Amino acid sequence: MNGRFIVIEGLDGTGKSTQIQLLAKRLRENNIPVEITAEPTAHESGRLIRRILSGEIKCDPWATAALFLSDRITHNTSEDGIQALTEKGNTVISDRYYYSTFAYQGMDTDLNWAMDMHYSCPLIRKPDLVLFLTMSAEKCIERINTNRKAEEIEIFENTETLKRISSQFDKVFSLIKDKENIVYIDADGTIEEVSDRIFSAVKTLF
Ligand code: TYD
Repeated sequence: MNGRFIVIEGLDGTGKSTQIQLLAKRLRENNIPVEITAEPTAHESGRLIRRILSGEIKCDPWATAALFLSDRITHNTSEDGIQALTEKGNTVISDRYYYSTFAYQGMDTDLNWAMDMHYSCPLIRKPDLVLFLTMSAEKCIERINTNRKAEEIEIFENTETLKRISSQFDKVFSLIKDKENIVYIDADGTIEEVSDRIFSAVKTLF
């Protein structure tokens, strides 16, 4: 049987990475094979994007959005990608997906354009479930500052920017709520509490 495709989205600092690891562990304990993927990918396209996000290379926001689309097609179609992994029976959990492009690049370009190019691309699979980790921008910044060195903080990570991205995420998810399976997860809690919230949403898929 083909595996499921689950996406976890949320602002930087919401604890996505920790929660993805825990979710994978819990699913594996239930004999469900799991592979974790992430965007930007580790492919050449993703590496280029990381150099843009760090500020090392300048890139027009429209071009950046198109690079994310390209990296996402690779994420779907490569040998280690979503399609191949799910066909082998693995459930794939992706750290971010097109919702991030809608939220981050959608602000500086045109949201409808960003949405259209994804929804009209036959190679980009719609997830079975997207978990949106919610937390205030202030709290996210607090967590980012305690967890990371200054040189690791990317261009999107200051409170004002995070607030803008947060409201853009809200806007995006309300616009697409009828055509996607979205579950909001309150990420302000202990690691175990948040993990339980996530697991009870994911269980419904199996
Ligand atoms: P990353 O260092 O992977 O960390 P995290 O996801 O834990 O924050 O950062 C990825 C960055 O890429 C993040 O700042 C958001 C940005 N991004 C976009 O701007 N658009 C996208 O489509 C994606 C997938 C990510």
